[in-house]
Parts: sequence; structure tokens; C-alpha cells
Amino acid sequence: MTNPLTTRENRFQVDTSIIRHLIFSQAGTLHKALLELVMNSLDAQCEKVLVDISEDMRSIVVSDDGVGFKTIDDIEKLFGTFGFDHQTEEELSRGRNYGRFGLGRAQCLAFGSTVWTSNQFTMTVDLKGNSSSDLPYIIQEHADIKHKGCKIELSLYDAMSVYDKRELLSVLRRMAKYVQTEVVVDGCRVNEDISSVKWSASNEDFLFLNANSQRGLSIYNKGVLVCTYSHSKFGVSGDITSIDKNFAVNMARNDVLITECELFKRIGGFIKPFAEKKTKKIFTDEDRKYWLAKLFSGQCVHADVSSKRLCQNADGKYATLRSMYQHANGILIAAPDRLLQNKGMLAHRRQEAFCLSASFLDMHGFNSLEDFVSDLNNALDSYHPFSKKFKAASFDDTVRNANDASVRLGEGELSKIDKVRLTAVQSMYSMLLEEMLEVEQSGNFDFRRHLSDVNEQSRVVCLGRSETSNGWTDGVNYIAINVDYMRDLFDRGYNGIIKLMGLLVHEQCHDSETMSSHFHSAEFYEKFHNVMRNINTFTIASKCIEKYLRECKKINRRLSDREMRKTFDTYEKLVGLAN
Ligand SMILES: Nc1ncnc2c1ncn2[C@@H]1O[C@H](COP(=O)(O)OP(=O)(O)O)[C@@H](O)[C@H]1O
Ligand SMILES: [Mg+2]
Repeated sequence: MTNPLTTRENRFQVDTSIIRHLIFSQAGTLHKALLELVMNSLDAQCEKVLVDISEDMRSIVVSDDGVGFKTIDDIEKLFGTFGFDHQTEEELSRGRNYGRFGLGRAQCLAFGSTVWTSNQFTMTVDLKGNSSSDLPYIIQEHADIKHKGCKIELSLYDAMSVYDKRELLSVLRRMAKYVQTEVVVDGCRVNEDISSVKWSASNEDFLFLNANSQRGLSIYNKGVLVCTYSHSKFGVSGDITSIDKNFAVNMARNDVLITECELFKRIGGFIKPFAEKKTKKIFTDEDRKYWLAKLFSGQCVHADVSSKRLCQNADGKYATLRSMYQHANGILIAAPDRLLQNKGMLAHRRQEAFCLSASFLDMHGFNSLEDFVSDLNNALDSYHPFSKKFKAASFDDTVRNANDASVRLGEGELSKIDKVRLTAVQSMYSMLLEEMLEVEQSGNFDFRRHLSDVNEQSRVVCLGRSETSNGWTDGVNYIAINVDYMRDLFDRGYNGIIKLMGLLVHEQCHDSETMSSHFHSAEFYEKFHNVMRNINTFTIASKCIEKYLRECKKINRRLSDREMRKTFDTYEKLVGLAN
């Protein structure tokens, strides 16, 4: 490169017009703007902040009893300058808790004209009223103290609605939840008294309140909400607030600058006992996400998760990594969608592969089965808990021959005894439907409401053969029961009959066909639950057995001893006890 003719080092300049843009184009919500004012009051070491909304909802006053602005110099430096250095000795000595950038107060300027009254000074700003590109404000000094501390009267450009007002209260209640100074909005205190909160744990950095739910972990910077991380990030939900150290937050104050924030890095260790505490609570998807992410990122090893059922198969059941491996020598497939889960399960049952559920990869953030398998193998690499690695197999190739051969059997294909049993099951089915209707007519309104969702239209109950299902239906005309399954259940006496009843109700609650896809929505479970809760299980089962015995007599078939025992064991014991 040739020598330059001239060299000048220049400085970027900032035109005031960018400030106007920053204020008007980047303004968040009025609620956030007011929160900024509240935080300024807290930074001014006040004892109390009041936020009052006028009756006509056109103006809002935020006032505090803190240090306020003391001199004209102060005003020009702190009020009249956007974005100033907070790290100088002088600024550090002011002991701010929240202020970092010198921009927060600008947000409210977008929502209305303001009069700031602080000690003997007033400052007046109206950016919409004065559209010149420089940003004028007027300072006046008065002979006497007008307000000890600082008071900001905001005359809104657009009046608030009743909804806005209510929202404001709830947002401030949420955002300023654990602030240690009293914050009162329209006469209501919005922050909690942190000394009377029953914290689950504390140390010199944090106070933590465990929520025992899945709603996520909310991070509060010295009592002010920053953001909420999903349950799976830390394996816990609840509230955590820093006590007297600050989280490094971004300019919008809605996230932590994770890589540079030392305080944030200490959260994980602090709340770990809660994430990993063995409680009776159900192990949820969020917990599974947490543990798999930990395993994949090297924060834990196989031994830590070996007893946890982390992986869901296409039937909705969960398996440990070991049982997932042992199922088919580490070969995995993933159902591409819910409709194909049944097909996948055929291959799964034949132990040709372990078939992951259709939602599994997506839920854990994997684009493909290959990605999952490669992360899994990497995570397990260091000490080989299994003999070989997991392998991703092609779903289509694996299930190619797995055609479900579910067929319904005709009368001619049934043995005598199967026919007898089917008759008993059919009579049970009629009783079930009758009971559903009876309850309806008896005026149990609650049940009727639920019943109206259950299609009580009668279907033909028949037998069939299937590799995948114990029972299936087309949702309208028939309910088929796997003949092997029925035989097995009849051998189990009362318990088996009650299981069969559950199957019939289950299929009846399905109002679409269940062969190709078998999906259970929350509504389905509700229906099923409501029916099962309201039918006379014992009476129906007894009558079914009665019918069975009568039908057996008709064909001169005696029950085997085993069948007798299973069927009447409990009953006889009861009779024995009663006598
Ligand atoms: N209510 C107040 N009482 C006293 N000083 C205030 C008040 N509000 C704002 N200030 C001063 O104005 C400065 C600028 O406020 P702001 O724009 O919110 O930026 P930051 O809070 O990041 O410093 C504050 O740092 C503070 O020195
Ligand atoms: Mg501020």
C-alpha cells in the first residue's frame, strides 16, 4: 500500500435527532417508562415512592422523598445529558442501585409532557409540543423549596384507558415485587415486604422462593424483575432476587448479559439442590429437558441420569437411556409425525428399533435424529455405559414391512368359548351405554354436560387380531377387541373384566378412528375420567360375569379351576369374612 497523503483520526458524532428517534421509536410501554421513574426514585435513596393516576386518567404523578437534584450543575449533568459515564468516582459515590446508562428517564418523555419538581427547581419538557430537532427543556429556580426529593408530573399525550390503569397496577406489582422500599400505586402498596416472605433458601447473594411448579425461574435484580427463564434452564421454578449485588443487564433491562455476569453464573450452584431434590412430584417434560441438556453439555454424566426415564417412545411411555439402548441394541428411529407413530410402534414392538415419539426431537431442540444420536454418543463417550454406540436408523426403511395386520374376525372364525365371551362383553357394553343414558335422565346435570361430549351412539362390539392394539374403533360403527387380549383378561376374573370395561369406555370415548393414529387429547382424558367416575363398575362387572356363566352353561362348558379361583376368590373371601 502506498503512503497516504494525509491521516486524520476522527470521532463519530451524535446528532440530537438520534435522541428524538431513540425516545419515540424505541419507547416501550408506559408501564416500563414508569418503572424507570420508580427505579430512579429508589436510586435517590428515598423512603417511599408514590405513583398516582388522575381521575380523568390523563396525568400521572411519580413522587419521592429522595435526594433530588441539588444544583443547576447537577441538573445539566444528570438531567440534561443522555448517556453519561456512571463509573467515575463522583458518580459511583451516588450509590445508584439500578441506573447504568443514563437513559431511563427518556422513556416517559415519549408519553407526555413533564414537569419535574425537585427541591427549589422545576424542569419542563414537552417533546411533542416542540418538534425542533434539538431537545429543549426549561429550568426554573424558585425562592423556596417546592418539593423535597423529586416529583414528576406527566401529562399524557393519549389518555389511559381503564384497562391500561389496571394493567399498570399489575405490571408494577410484578416488576417491583421484591423492591425493598415502599412503592405505592394509587394508594396500593405493590411490593412485598421481603422480610415476611418465606424464602426457600438464601445466601449472601440471593433470596430464592421455590414455586414447586413449571412456570419458570424469574430473576429479580435487587427486587426488580428482569426476565423469566423456562423451568428446564435451571430445573426449578420460582423467584430469585439478588440482595445487594447487581446482575449485568441489557439496556432494555429485560435480560441478563449472561457471559459477563458473574452473579448470574452463581445461580446454578445455589439452586441446584432444588433442581435435583428427590421429591414425590411428577417428573415432567421440563425436568427431562433439563437433565438431557445437562448431560449433553457435559454438566453431568450417565450415572447421574441412569435411573431417570428421559426418552419417550411413540406409545407415550418413558424409558431410561439404558432400557432405550437395550431395547434394540441401540438402534433408534423417530416417528416423523403423530400419524405414523403406530407404524413406528410396530417396529418398536418387534424390537427392530426403539421408536421415539414424534414430538421428542422437537421438544429437545434437535433438527434430526442424527443430531440427537451424535450428541447422545458424545455425551456417553467418556466411559461407555453401553457396549456399542446408539445408531440412527431410517424410519421408512425400518417400518417398510411393518404393516399393521389388524383385522376384525367374523363369526365363523371364532371358537365356541370366544363367542360366549364376546356375548358377555357385548352385554357389558349395552349396560355401559344404558348407564350413561340413565345417569343423564336421572338429572345429574354435571354428568349430562360431560356426556353430551361422549358419543353414546351404540357401536357393534366384535373381536379382532392385531399386533399393535388391544382394542380399536372407527369411531362410529364398531369397537374391536384383540381376541388374545380378551382371553387373557377373562382368565383374570373380576380384575380382567374391569379392565375390559375400561377398554370399552376408552374406545367409546374416541369419536374418530384409532387405527392409524392414536392420539389422546386433554378433552379425551376428561371424557374418559368422567364416565369412569360415574358408572357402577362393580355391578356391571358382576352382571357381565353372570352372563358369561349362564352362556357357558348353555354350551355345557365348565369353568376351569383357575378361572373359578380368579373369578370368585375375592368374592368368596368377602363372604367368608361376613359370616
Ligand atoms: N427521582 C430522582 N431523584 C434524584 N435524581 C434523579 C431522579 N431521577 C433521575 N435522577 C438523576 O438523573 C439521572 C439519569 O436518570 P436516568 O435517565 O434514569 O438514567 P440512569 O438511572 O441510568 O442513571 C440519574 O442517574 C439520577 O442521577
Ligand atoms: Mg434510571
